[in-house]
Amino acid sequence: MKKIIVTGSNRGIGHSIAEYLAKKHYGIIMVDYDSSINETGSQMNDLYGNVEGIQCDVSSYEKCEKAFSNVDRSEVYGIVNNAGINRDVMFKNMTYEQWDAVIKTDLYSMFNVTKQFINSMIENNSGRIVNISSASWNGNIGQANYSAAKAGAIGFTRTLARELGKYGITSNAIVPGFIKTPMTDSMPDKIKEKFIEKIPLKRIGTPEDVANAVEFLMKGESGYINGILLDVGGGMIL
Ligand SMILES: NC(=O)c1ccc[n+]([C@@H]2O[C@H](COP(=O)([O-])OP(=O)(O)OC[C@H]3O[C@@H](n4cnc5c(N)ncnc54)[C@H](O)[C@@H]3O)[C@@H](O)[C@H]2O)c1
Repeated sequence: MKKIIVTGSNRGIGHSIAEYLAKKHYGIIMVDYDSSINETGSQMNDLYGNVEGIQCDVSSYEKCEKAFSNVDRSEVYGIVNNAGINRDVMFKNMTYEQWDAVIKTDLYSMFNVTKQFINSMIENNSGRIVNISSASWNGNIGQANYSAAKAGAIGFTRTLARELGKYGITSNAIVPGFIKTPMTDSMPDKIKEKFIEKIPLKRIGTPEDVANAVEFLMKGESGYINGILLDVGGGMIL
C-alpha cells in the first residue's frame, strides 16, 4: 500500500487533497494540530479505508519526531506539505511573533516532516514530495512573513528535486492562487471581489482544483516531472 502524508488536512485544501487521494486508493495519513484530526481520519477511513489521523503541530521538529515514531517508514511513498497559516499585516506593524509563527508553520514544517521520512524514501528508491506554496511567493503587500515562507518553500522544493532525483524521488511545488477555504472565507467581501476581478477565469478556485493537481503529481506516470511550480490560479498573477 502506497501511503501519503498530508499535513494540515483537518479542513480546507489539505482535507480535499486527502479525500481526493483516498478515493484513488492511496493510504492516507492525515496530520493536523487540531485535536479533531483523529475523528476526521476515522470518518475518512469509514468512507474510503486505509486512512488514519495523527495529531501533530508540524511547526515543531520534536513534536514531529514523536508523532511519527510509530509510522511504518517503508510504506510512506509521498508527502504533501500543506499546513500553513497567515498573519497578514504591513511589515512596519509586523511583530516578531507574527513573523515567527508563519515562518515556523509554513516553512520549517516542510523540513520537520520531510526529514522524518526521507531516508526510507531513498531506500525505497521512489517517492513524491509535493509542497504547497502560494502565488504570494512573488511578494504581496501585507504578507512579508507569508511571502518569505512561500518563496522559501520553492527554493526547498527545487533543491530537493536536484538532490533526490537520482533516488527516483520527485519534488514539486503547487502554487495555488485564490482558493475558497476557511483561510480565505474570513477576508472582507470587497477584497475577495478585487481578487476575482484579477482572475481571467472570473471565479475563486476550489480545494478540489488544488487536490487534482496534487493527484496528478503523485501518479507513477508523472515521474519525469521534477522541480516544477504548478500554478493553480485560474491565470491570476500577483
Ligand atoms: N486558500 C488559499 O487561497 C490559498 C492560496 C495559496 C496557498 N494556500 C496554502 O494552502 C495551504 C492550505 O491552506 P487552506 O486555505 O486550506 O488553509 P486552512 O486554514 O483552511 O487550513 C489549514 C489547515 O492546516 C492546519 N494547521 C495549521 N497550522 C498547523 C500546524 N502547525 N500543524 C499542523 N496543522 C496545522 C489547520 O488546523 C488547518 O486544518 C496553506 O499552506 C496555505 O498557505 C492557500
